[in-house]
Amino acid sequence: MKIAIAKENLEAENRVAASPETVKKLIGLGAEVVVASGAGAAAAMTDAAYGAAGAKIVAQGEVYNDADVIFRVRHPAAEEVSKMKKGALLIGILSPYQEKDLLKAYAAQGVTAMAMEFVPRITRAQSMDVLSSQANLAGYRAVLEAANAFGHALPLMMTAAGTVPAAKVFIMGVGVAGLQAIATARRLGAQVSATDVRPAAKEQVQSLGASFVMVETEETKAAETSGGYAKEMSDEYKQKQAALIADTIRKQDIVITTALIPGKKAPVLVTDEMVKSMKAGSVILDMAVEQGGNCTLSKSGEVVDVNGIKIIGYTNLPGRIAADASALYARNLLNFLTPLVDKDSKSLKIDWEDEIVKATTLTRGGAVVHPNFV
Ligand code: NAI
Repeated sequence: MKIAIAKENLEAENRVAASPETVKKLIGLGAEVVVASGAGAAAAMTDAAYGAAGAKIVAQGEVYNDADVIFRVRHPAAEEVSKMKKGALLIGILSPYQEKDLLKAYAAQGVTAMAMEFVPRITRAQSMDVLSSQANLAGYRAVLEAANAFGHALPLMMTAAGTVPAAKVFIMGVGVAGLQAIATARRLGAQVSATDVRPAAKEQVQSLGASFVMVETEETKAAETSGGYAKEMSDEYKQKQAALIADTIRKQDIVITTALIPGKKAPVLVTDEMVKSMKAGSVILDMAVEQGGNCTLSKSGEVVDVNGIKIIGYTNLPGRIAADASALYARNLLNFLTPLVDKDSKSLKIDWEDEIVKATTLTRGGAVVHPNFV
């Protein structure tokens, strides 16, 4: 079994899909591992470290040759798919909703593509959950980016020259990223509040020492799916929520938005008027910018200035903390692959009826097989 670790080619993608630590463990499973030269350079993982772990370093152009398994962080470029062997297993965050043409290309090439973002949130799969491992670091990084763009300090400081007040930070959407953002902003000494549509979030927010801001109605009692995700709310709820949020936002120094609804455009939570109600010098960081944005004025990949209010729309926050994001992502992939390998024959032996396999497999046997795309 040959496993290939490709070099990422999307812009500003600094992460890599294996670490020297996981390479050693993959070899322990009986695999031969090839790593594209420079694949880990932006995540502080050198060719020499991969080599010392037992991997063979090859040029990116050769990395797919005869590979049975291909590990990537994000999807490959279209021209790379034709280099993949028929029957090869391609594993990564493949963004199938956005990359429908690639889906067809994987099928046409006979590649079995598996999307890590579709790993179900069941207990057995927790160690494979890339959404959690990456969102946690992204939430941390979001606070550092916002604090860096903010011209004031976050903690209360009493000095001989006067008092610096604590910054008010508001986190919108408290899933994995939001909870880590709360914890990080609290550690930096800010006064933190947060909101979500799932009532279960209230206790989590309060246990982190932040206050919870929420419109509680009959509808919110059922706002969480059995998978723990948010549902899209009614127009009436959205109006009530907007009024409460408008009143909260104008008092904030930093707003970090993380609200997502799986498979849908991100909900709009911060309107033009809300942005303009804030003080000059305030900062908004829209973590949902790649899914359409929670703030009407955020722009993907840009920092926009509106009346002195900075709106940060950085994409790929985990890529801005690439060393740790790669180390955790690499372990997620190792944990995902391990049950697919037969210990005796040291080759792939996949139970296609397994819940995790079924949920992640996009293409197989020359066809698109995932129910969301057929
Ligand atoms: P996500 O990234 O899909 O969404 C982020 C947050 O935005 C969620 O908390 C969601 O409720 C919130 N949101 C959506 N619409 C909103 C709106 N209109 N206004 C305000 N907030 C809104 O969520 P994530 O981080 O993937 O977590 C979802 C849930 O899954 C959480 O309860 C989390 O604790 C749970 N989870 C469970 C795991 C498991 O293995 N059992 C692993 C990881 C997370």
